[in-house]
Amino acid sequence: MACVLAIETSCDETSVAVVNDRHCCSNIVASQIPVHRQYGGVVPEVASRSHVETINQAIAQALLEAQLDWGGIDGIAATCAPGLVGSLLVGLTAAKTLAIIHHKPFLGIHHLEGHIYATYLSEPDLEPPFLCLLVSGGHTSLIYVKDCGHYETLGETRDDAAGEAFDKVARLLHLSYPGGPVIDQLAREGNPAAFSLPEGKISVPSGGYHPYDSSFSGLKTAVLRLVQKLEADQSELPVSDIAASFQDTVARSLTKRAIACALDYGLKTIAVGGGVAANSGLRKHMQQAASEHNLRVLFPPLKYCTDNAAMIGCAAADHLNRGHTSPLTLGVQSRLPLSSVMQLY
Ligand code: KG4
Ligand code: ZN
Repeated sequence: MACVLAIETSCDETSVAVVNDRHCCSNIVASQIPVHRQYGGVVPEVASRSHVETINQAIAQALLEAQLDWGGIDGIAATCAPGLVGSLLVGLTAAKTLAIIHHKPFLGIHHLEGHIYATYLSEPDLEPPFLCLLVSGGHTSLIYVKDCGHYETLGETRDDAAGEAFDKVARLLHLSYPGGPVIDQLAREGNPAAFSLPEGKISVPSGGYHPYDSSFSGLKTAVLRLVQKLEADQSELPVSDIAASFQDTVARSLTKRAIACALDYGLKTIAVGGGVAANSGLRKHMQQAASEHNLRVLFPPLKYCTDNAAMIGCAAADHLNRGHTSPLTLGVQSRLPLSSVMQLY
């Protein structure tokens, strides 16, 4: 058993958690969304300054809620890649400093590995292999989870991430940031068949389309053209219908690829993670398709879908149990493929 204090500051949430193997003892999340909303997206410099202001209090609060002092902590972890460099540096520097002061092992964690581990917090008996559909503001990936630290990315987006597409389309519809939850809410009142929108496909040189890769930039442009046409006609924008049609197109496209991938690789379980896993349209399509194909689909609770330190702590505890620790010379990286996770130890 390993009890880890983990820090996540890769983007716009300052989060600190205490995790005992797959059990979350505390998970403090200080969201910066209200700060960034006025700019319509995350401003990196503002994000890192805000992490500096919040992190000490979040660390103290995480220990307090877990009812532990440093004597009960076996290791200290922080997200080290991928993410905003200035933001990552705040969390990583805090974790290294605490590790030195309290003589604890230090671990750098890959943010996407954290999203994979989010599922274990609510499904502690789950074991690899399984497929992870990771859909967030920065990533859209289909990952073959083989073991702790061992992953194969089978599908990716070639342009915008799914969450990014939600945020950009929300901006086109004059809605607030982040766009995903707002579109999800509006889509409930709209007709998903109101507009026929194109599902992005990636052609392969040998002919046909890539079965698992996706693309959302064409869909975003199609929504832009639609909005421009409707605005030129001076008709009132049917925002709910556009939101519902867009959401349905994204959900169908992701579901089709995830199910095909699971069936082709003989994987019986699909764990969905990342902020877009909160989407009601995606949940509906995935659950329906999974039951038709006799597959199990797992959605972590919302608090573990969006960025949080509990998922980072869960991954760190597993690595620590296997004797993996990172050197204090480890730096942050804005990009790092998931296949390179074991280079961190
Ligand atoms: O995982 P996350 O918190 O941060 C990243 O690692 O990117 O994901 C944030 C993304 C945002 O793009 C947001 O619009 C999207 O998740 N999101 C949603 C929903 N809730 C959050 N997208 C669609 N439907 C939702 N209900
Ligand atoms: Zn994330």
